[in-house]
Amino acid sequence: MHNYRQITEYLFNVGANDRRIRMFENAHPVPRGMSYNSYLLLDEKTVLLDGVDNAIIEQFWQNLTAVLNGRHLDYLVINHIEPDHCHPIPELLRRFPGLTIVGNKKTFTMLEQFYEVDLGGHMLEVKEGDTLQTGKHNLTFFMAPMVHWPEVMVTYDTTSKILFCADAFGTFGATDGRMYADQYKFEEEYLPEVRRYYATIIGKYGRNVNNLFDKIANLEISMFCTLHGPIWRKDFHLILDKYKQWASYTPEERGVVIAYGSIYGNTALAAEILANKLADGGEKTVKVYDVTATDPSYILSDCFRYDRLVFASATFNAELFPFMETLLLDLKAHNLTNRTVALIENGSWAISSGKRMREILEQMKGLNILEQTLTIKSSPKDAEVQALDELAKTLLTA
Ligand code: FEO
Repeated sequence: MHNYRQITEYLFNVGANDRRIRMFENAHPVPRGMSYNSYLLLDEKTVLLDGVDNAIIEQFWQNLTAVLNGRHLDYLVINHIEPDHCHPIPELLRRFPGLTIVGNKKTFTMLEQFYEVDLGGHMLEVKEGDTLQTGKHNLTFFMAPMVHWPEVMVTYDTTSKILFCADAFGTFGATDGRMYADQYKFEEEYLPEVRRYYATIIGKYGRNVNNLFDKIANLEISMFCTLHGPIWRKDFHLILDKYKQWASYTPEERGVVIAYGSIYGNTALAAEILANKLADGGEKTVKVYDVTATDPSYILSDCFRYDRLVFASATFNAELFPFMETLLLDLKAHNLTNRTVALIENGSWAISSGKRMREILEQMKGLNILEQTLTIKSSPKDAEVQALDELAKTLLTA
């Protein structure tokens, strides 16, 4: 049975939710599932804007068939060739022999890398600013490289003023009936997962996100139709303001993230003592994470949110505790910058976790890493508690 959603007189979402998925991209936990949007425009020509993931393919076919209601599909616009949006392409070519696929040069290169398809006679290659008239609607294409992948583009319908914005403004989590972002409580229901999605999926590419903003700055936009999560139809400043902060790696607010990797609880104890001292000193927001208990995506997300970070790690096999190494390499991979960072190391002999943490962090541009690493030998004693007190004072005024 079909279960599509109608957005305007001419536009439908033929995508669906996947609530069985455990890890998006087999990398990031999605406890609330994932949605995959696919937009079908019924004009004199029929146009599908992006497809869906394999996980929801049967629902997609039901939806597409129902909305087309016997019509042929004329165009498939590929704004993003990542497989979570492209699984139906080979079957679309079989079902609709006259289908024209719209993409840019890189789209088609990757399309042929992923799928064994004969694109002869099916390709319409577009460049920046090219347009496609579909009847009443006129689609204009803008390249948005690295707003996740290099081939990404966005499509602007000059008739309806809708921007089909690929992964931009997407979020983790399935939608639950409400298809517009303004139907969700922004701070509590929407923001945590859209931030984590941004940080993990797009966070590395802040400069490219800003480039896209420059391109669309003068467009009149009625809706942002993203590929994941609810559609934006009003109050755009809420998401745009956040995106501008994240893209410039500007902390959203003051707060201290303490992430620790502890084997027998002594490094954890140091982290907890520091958290208490910060709170006692007036710090309003302190977030403490055990790196073995919390997936790095959640910690990364908070590192995008807050301005001061503390990493406390045991030495392990004369190296850095592996879960801490994973976290720091993740931060580095996402180009995080503009933060004050403090380090706490622990070990019983050949203490090296501080040195290794510093090596990773010093490869990241623009971090203010406090010169002094706080060293603990096996467990914190009075001298280390005093040092934690000093560190708290430094962080409170940083
Ligand atoms: Fe939703 Fe970059 O794919």
